[in-house]
Amino acid sequence: MVKSRFLSSKKAEPALNPDTLPQHIAIIMDGNGRWAKKRLLPRNMGHKAGVESLRETIQACSDLGIKHLSVWAFGTENWKRPESEVDFLMKMLGEVLARETPGMHEKNVRIKIIGYKAALAPELQNQIQISETLTAHNTGLHFNIMINYGSRLEIIHAVQSIVDEAKAGRLSDVTESVISDHLYTAGIPDPEILIRTSGEVRLSNYMLWQCAYTELFFVPALWPDFGRKELVDVISQYQKRDRRFGGLNDD
Ligand code: FPP
Repeated sequence: MVKSRFLSSKKAEPALNPDTLPQHIAIIMDGNGRWAKKRLLPRNMGHKAGVESLRETIQACSDLGIKHLSVWAFGTENWKRPESEVDFLMKMLGEVLARETPGMHEKNVRIKIIGYKAALAPELQNQIQISETLTAHNTGLHFNIMINYGSRLEIIHAVQSIVDEAKAGRLSDVTESVISDHLYTAGIPDPEILIRTSGEVRLSNYMLWQCAYTELFFVPALWPDFGRKELVDVISQYQKRDRRFGGLNDD
């Protein structure tokens, strides 16, 4: 008997409007530890499972024609975690970058690491350099990975360089674009969508300047349970939102 697709419990993917797709989606990938705990697994297994969700999300963004995807892989505050978890995460980031870079390069993905890179282990810095250099001229999805990233540290560094330039006489005015251009994310448009998984409802020092007018989505799924379906769902909700940027819309 041919199985009728009408009997399937799977709902069809909502159709997205190609004219109002976001250019930039940012994600706080939260809930790996809880995902592992629910399965009586060590926390690190949750991080490993999270890499699979990330792979699916990158593919979905590429397929949908999203231009920029930014994900937070390690925050400036994450150094407070037990040394064994920090070591695992750092090692995993290097290994995942080494393993996945050739495939992403084939898919025309440009990889950029955003954060205070000078504090990372030399081997990881080396791998970052390899991944960024190989993919630098790719024109498909711009995939930004935040490692040792914190918005306040980013703002401190921006202010420091603005002061230095002003002292050297190269800058006489501070405007919004001067600040944007001195952040680690210079040249990348502000995200239209920020997703945080796992039901936590806060920004936790992530892209505070860049998210001033971003639409926020706090989804219950733990990061390893997030995939194309959840992403398309968020974009579909975003397309129904009324964005006013402080002004009024016509209707
Ligand atoms: C937060 O979950 C997740 C992280 C701190 C790490 C996320 C990193 C990845 C998914 C790997 C990405 C790999 C590359 C190369 C970009 P949590 O540990 O805070 O979870 P919990 O809140 O349930 O404890």
